[in-house]
Amino acid sequence: MASKIDFVLVTGATGFIGAHVIDTLLARGRRVRGATRSLAKGEEMIRSRPQYSQKLEFVQIQDFENPGGLTEAVNGVDAVIHVASPFKLNTSDNEKELIIPAINGVRAMLEAASNAPSVQRVVITSSFAAVIDTNRKGPQGFTYTAADWNPLTYEEAADPKSTPVVAYRGSKKYAELAAWGFVKEKKPHFDIVTLCPPMVFGPIAHPIDSLDHLNESNAALWDIAKGVDPLPVGRVPFWIDARDLAIAHVEAALRKEAGGKRYTPAAPERWSYALAAKYMVSHFPELCDEVKLEEQVIDDSFSLDGETAAREFGYRCRRFEETIRDFTAQCLARKGRT
Ligand SMILES: NC(=O)c1ccc[n+]([C@@H]2O[C@H](COP(=O)([O-])OP(=O)(O)OC[C@H]3O[C@@H](n4cnc5c(N)ncnc54)[C@H](OP(=O)(O)O)[C@@H]3O)[C@@H](O)[C@H]2O)c1
Repeated sequence: MASKIDFVLVTGATGFIGAHVIDTLLARGRRVRGATRSLAKGEEMIRSRPQYSQKLEFVQIQDFENPGGLTEAVNGVDAVIHVASPFKLNTSDNEKELIIPAINGVRAMLEAASNAPSVQRVVITSSFAAVIDTNRKGPQGFTYTAADWNPLTYEEAADPKSTPVVAYRGSKKYAELAAWGFVKEKKPHFDIVTLCPPMVFGPIAHPIDSLDHLNESNAALWDIAKGVDPLPVGRVPFWIDARDLAIAHVEAALRKEAGGKRYTPAAPERWSYALAAKYMVSHFPELCDEVKLEEQVIDDSFSLDGETAAREFGYRCRRFEETIRDFTAQCLARKGRT
């Protein structure tokens, strides 16, 4: 059953996933307000979507180290899709750059929404990083679902000796826990939905000034096209195309019955960087001298339930080959090679 959600605030609007969420909302006839730290990027997004100039607006917010601007951002919207959170692995202070802003961002957003009577639903982009237990030893065939949480303690995640990957897993777990804790304690007038996708790839819809500034997950793919040797090794064998994940976000905002639930949207197919390299060369033979082809074993000892989200939200996931083809074509065109 569809609820009456006409005007939606999207945070992380000028980032990789947020821009796809915006495009999906606009295609579905919704009015969208994007929140960004850079209004110049927001204006660029409006300029590149002239057909939606009456439906798309941007508001500036502050960095979540000291959140600000969210009260204005939520004013009058029916729903919030909170995508923004730091996702970068070249950090010098993990707790300050990853964990604290992730938690502050969620708390400040929910606080602001609590004071906005129009808000009916808040969707939060969490991550499979908040779900996976990387030390799990079985049982063989174990399937992760939305009921699972990674066992990291805050102290482990924030330990300066921990890697940025571990800190990122902590940032997503403790930000999401802060959201569920907020709802339990404060009982706001809206409900929440959280989405925990694994690796997200696909063509980009947000403004970047060069291919050197791709988001973290796509940057590793572009490194392959540029000839990185050896290929990186994927941390999880699960993924989803950003365009499919955007549908999951929008359905999570529109469908009343999704309220209060946690989902793990994921494609049924597994992936590896070796598979990405193979598809790059098969679709763009001119890359054959650059791209390193090698074999990588894809872990099939455990699974992830991407089916529940696809069924309840009514979408079918793209194939990895299509995602790699579309992403690579876009990058090569931008680089002036196709
Ligand atoms: N890409 C993946 O593989 C993947 C997988 C699972 C979950 N996720 C989650 O998806 C969300 C979006 O990630 P993405 O891949 O789209 O990355 P992205 O392109 O780097 O986008 C991140 C967005 O968050 C905003 N942001 C980051 N740090 C912030 C801070 N300290 N204060 C305020 N805003 C901040 C950025 O705002 P500006 O535009 O203003 O710079 C940007 O729009 C994140 O929550 C991430 O954890 C991503």
